[in-house]
Amino acid sequence: MATAAVEPYVIQSTLPTRYPRGWFCIGADYEFTTTPRKLDYFGTSLVAYRGENSGAVHLLDAYCPHMGANLAGEGSLVNGDSVICPFHAWSWGPDGVCNDIPYAKKIPEKARIRSWPVMEENQLVYMWYDPDGGEPIEEQRIPPNPQVQEDGWTPWVIRRFDVQNNARELIDNMADKAHFGPVHGTGNITHFSNICEGHMYTQLMQGNSELGTIDSKAQYFGPGYMIHEMHITLPDGVETKMMSLVMNVPTGMESFEFLAGFKYPIPPGLEGNILAQIDFVNSKIDEGERGVQADLMIWKDKVAIDNPILCDGDGPVTRLRQWYAQFLVPLDQVPESLKERKVYDKSN
Ligand code: FES
Ligand SMILES: [Fe+2]
Repeated sequence: MATAAVEPYVIQSTLPTRYPRGWFCIGADYEFTTTPRKLDYFGTSLVAYRGENSGAVHLLDAYCPHMGANLAGEGSLVNGDSVICPFHAWSWGPDGVCNDIPYAKKIPEKARIRSWPVMEENQLVYMWYDPDGGEPIEEQRIPPNPQVQEDGWTPWVIRRFDVQNNARELIDNMADKAHFGPVHGTGNITHFSNICEGHMYTQLMQGNSELGTIDSKAQYFGPGYMIHEMHITLPDGVETKMMSLVMNVPTGMESFEFLAGFKYPIPPGLEGNILAQIDFVNSKIDEGERGVQADLMIWKDKVAIDNPILCDGDGPVTRLRQWYAQFLVPLDQVPESLKERKVYDKSN
């Protein structure tokens, strides 16, 4: 029997031409010390360090405009709240202004590098990125998460992975109801909804997996930081909980660093022993190969697809992408319609 020929579908795959605007989590608070830390983000190199006087984290462009050394390179050091270049020891303040050249009578006026806004919240450090150079948007400040403020939790443990893909591919997860079964082993989803509101995007999910009954809330604040609370009722009725972070910082247009964070209730006997708590979290991460590590297996060799063929059982992928696109355009081009709270219930 002759059937009408359907041509093979052509996948369209274009990349954004800008990096997204917003707060990006760059790690746990204890990872930033008075030893300069090199961060290769947004197509360049940055240096992060904690000031000895203020205790605050500072973030500067890492390439020294004297003769190009990396301010996070071997031999660089922190002096007060300044960072000292390892090449000729020029000293750069947290505002990016050169405040000392040990062998010069006069500091050149041009001696200034970019300094990036930083904030700390929820035991995490964030940097503000705006391709148009805008200051942080007040309403997009990362809010305190009530559960993180509670006693009885381990510190965050963060794992980092380089992924060769555009960061949008990771964002898709929020609306992707159909991947929970094959990727995470949560086949029986009893509730699935997404809430889109301004710079926030929330996924609520309940379901059953081999682990037990799951009740989960995952929320993005801007394009780079997602915090996730999960309550699990084990088959024997015991209640347990955990928190995770799913975060990305673009490293190039076709690559990002995936930062996966984990936090557990402190197990009995490990109270007050931070190192043992971190070991405990690491062992939980290594056990949980059906968590975000499973997503990574997909992201690492998938293609960025602009025109996915969606079916009726899929989540609101198109809406989620419209939400993400607001961070890729200048502020005055963000559609008003995105500010309204919209709920997408895809439970059935
Ligand atoms: S290159 Fe930094 S001080 Fe010379
Ligand atoms: Fe996932």
